[in-house]
Order: sequence, then C-alpha cells, then structure tokens
Amino acid sequence: RQAGRFVGELVAAPARVGLAADGRSTEVWAYNGSLPGPLIEVYEGDTVEIDFVNRLPQPTTIHWHGLPVPAEQDGNPMDPVAPGERRRYRFTLPADSAGSYWYHPHPHGHTAEQVFRGLAGAFVVKSRRDPLGQLRDVPLLLSDLRLDEHAAIPPNTPADWMDGREGDYVLVNGALRPVLTLADGERVRLRVWNATSARVLRLALPGYETWRVGSDGGLIEAPRREAEIVLSPGERAEWVVTGRAQPGALVALPYRRGKMMSAEVDETLTLASLAPAARVASAPLPRRLRRIAPLPAPAVRRQIVLEENMADPKAMFTLNGRVYDMARADFVGRVGQVEEWEVVNRADMDHPFHLHGTQFQVLARHDGRGWRDEPYRAWRDVVSLPAGHAVRLRFVQALPGMRMFHCHILEHEEQGMMGQIDVR
Ligand code: C2O
Ligand code: CU
Ligand code: CU
Repeated sequence: RQAGRFVGELVAAPARVGLAADGRSTEVWAYNGSLPGPLIEVYEGDTVEIDFVNRLPQPTTIHWHGLPVPAEQDGNPMDPVAPGERRRYRFTLPADSAGSYWYHPHPHGHTAEQVFRGLAGAFVVKSRRDPLGQLRDVPLLLSDLRLDEHAAIPPNTPADWMDGREGDYVLVNGALRPVLTLADGERVRLRVWNATSARVLRLALPGYETWRVGSDGGLIEAPRREAEIVLSPGERAEWVVTGRAQPGALVALPYRRGKMMSAEVDETLTLASLAPAARVASAPLPRRLRRIAPLPAPAVRRQIVLEENMADPKAMFTLNGRVYDMARADFVGRVGQVEEWEVVNRADMDHPFHLHGTQFQVLARHDGRGWRDEPYRAWRDVVSLPAGHAVRLRFVQALPGMRMFHCHILEHEEQGMMGQIDVR
C-alpha cells in the first residue's frame, strides 16, 4: 500500500471451507478462498486498483455496492468477465464517501446463485477526520448458508425463487454464532452488513445501551438512541454499543415479510454471543457526527411501481410493469441533476429497493395509511419497502453511465425486478 493508492487482487473460485466445530467442510464459491471475501479498507481519496480473476464455471462481475464508481468499473451485467478471464477494476473514492459498502457479483442470470454460494465481502471507506475514529471498529457481515444432508450447498427451490432464499444458518463473518469480546464500559462501533439474499434482519442487543450512528453511506448527523435496527437485504448500519459486566448476545428478532410459499421467521435467533472483559473507560459519544446537507428541489420526478404477477411465470416480479432488459434504458437522466423518485410497493411481499452509483436521502415514507416525513437525514442505497408502503427519495448521480435499480432480494432481481437509468 502506497499513500493514496490501494492495490489488491481478488480471485473468485470454488473453495473448501471448514464448518463450525463438527469437523464438516463444504464447497463454497469464495473470493481468495475466504468466506466472506477479504475485508477491504481504504481511505477517502484513495485510488483503488483490483486485479480480478474469474475461476468460476460461470461468467461473473464484481459490483461495488453503494460506491460512487464509474459505471464501466461497477460490475454491471453488461460487462461480464468470462470463466478463466481477468480484468482490472479501477476507481478513485471521492471526498465525504466514508461508509460501509460491500462487493458482490452482478452477472445477468447468476447473481443470486453466486451470492448464496458465498461470494460477498465488506468494503469500508474511512475518513482521516472520523469523529468516532478512536473507537474499536467491529465489522459484522451477516450472510446465510443452507446445507443439504451431504453438507453441500443445494440449488434454489421453487419456493426460493418466489420468496427469496433464506439459509439454515446466519453466519457472522463466515462463522456460526461466534463469541465477541466486549469489555465492561467499552464503547465499540459495530458495522453490520445484511449480505443475505432475502432475509430481513431485525437486530437487537438486549440489555445494552445502543446508539445508531450510521447508515449505508456512512455517519448520520447525530447519534440516535435505537434499540433495534431493521436491515433489509443489502442494507448496512453502524451502531455504537457499550459493554456490560454480564454476557449477552446479538439477536435477530422475528420478522414477517409476507412470504408466499415458505415459513416466516417467528423465533429469535442468536447470531453472536458477547463475552464481557475487565472494565475499561471510554470517551463519551460526540453529540455531532457529520453534516448532511438536504438535497435541493428536484429537476425531475419519477414513479417506480413494484408489482407481483403470480399468473405470469415470465414476468412474476416487475418494475413499472416490465422485467429487466439490458438493452433498454428505462429512464434517461443527467449528471448532477436532482432526481426525486416515489417508489411504491403494490405487491404482497416486502421488496427492498436499491440504486447503483450513488447514495440517496429518504424524504418520507408511506405506511399504507399516510405519509410521514423521515425523522432524520441519512445517506442510503437500500430502503426497505414493506408490502403496501411507498417511499420518496432524492439523489444526484455525479457520473455518467448506465445505473441499475432493483429489488435486493436477489431472486427477484434475477427474475427481472430491475431497471436502469442512463445518466448522460
Ligand atoms: Cu448489491 Cu445491484 O446490488
Ligand atoms: Cu448495488
Ligand atoms: Cu423483491
């Protein structure tokens, strides 16, 4: 690593990994043989160069989820890397881009499978003037895994294609129910990624003092006391937690997302255990973290409607009545122009909405009864959309090119609940 430059190599390939304590192993698809892929940590302003090699039996790409990278470097479905081939991804991280991002494949037709087989990694952009820079940073990438009776990863079932695939195990940094040490009185910064294909994670740390400090695109303006954080697939959050003298746990509480064919999660899952350690003193949390300027009035307004049509197997999950077509620009936008989108979920399931290339601000949410202004400003690239709900969001694309937007339940994205805006 040289100042201002991050150079790395990622190889996507089948790999054997050991599972938990029972001595079994399974074959996953992994970046650099590790589940999840290596944590990439860079600074604002850095130029990142990643040499990528595809040793999978399928075409793939690497998509830099949430990062403002040039469209031709963003692993779009139209830029596949064939089996056996390599390419270099290169981009420079702009000022004020510190946050918790991730990388995963985005090839047309294979995204869901490649992610549930293990291809995903965390990408943290740091700031040199971080108001929480003195806290221990604990990245927790949550993914899920399903194994058959031979400890192999089975393909999707029809129910998975309908509801989105949930695994049997939720893994934390690739491990089942790890133990994390948190000293009594120690304040740590947890960064949490929902890298599952379809599971909504309603996270809590019962008994601990928890403050939300960040969203997908980095810090929010001020800490907020939040005891629970709901992360839809693809979404991230930052939480400051203070350790106690007693042991505890990070749990996922029951959440119903309107599944059609598979059972809802009605039990509380323990994701990680927290073990106490001797008391330490921590500095108080700063009252202000960052300034997020509101986006000005939009130059364009658009509406995006998400629908399910169970009668049409070729167009079950649609966006404005259509399924994704790589050759079609659903919208044409302009670099630097403020867009305001109203995204409406007219379906029976939750559909988390994601946009490439930039971060957005949610202005208001409609819960089926009425609009409510968002209580605080945050930069996001995924927003949860429960059935019958709508959101209003604003964003600016700073770079030209084709940008996808889609449901981040990867089975729905794969079946075409995706569109693209050609930014010129
Ligand atoms: Cu995380 Cu288009 O995806
Ligand atoms: Cu993305
Ligand atoms: Cu969906």
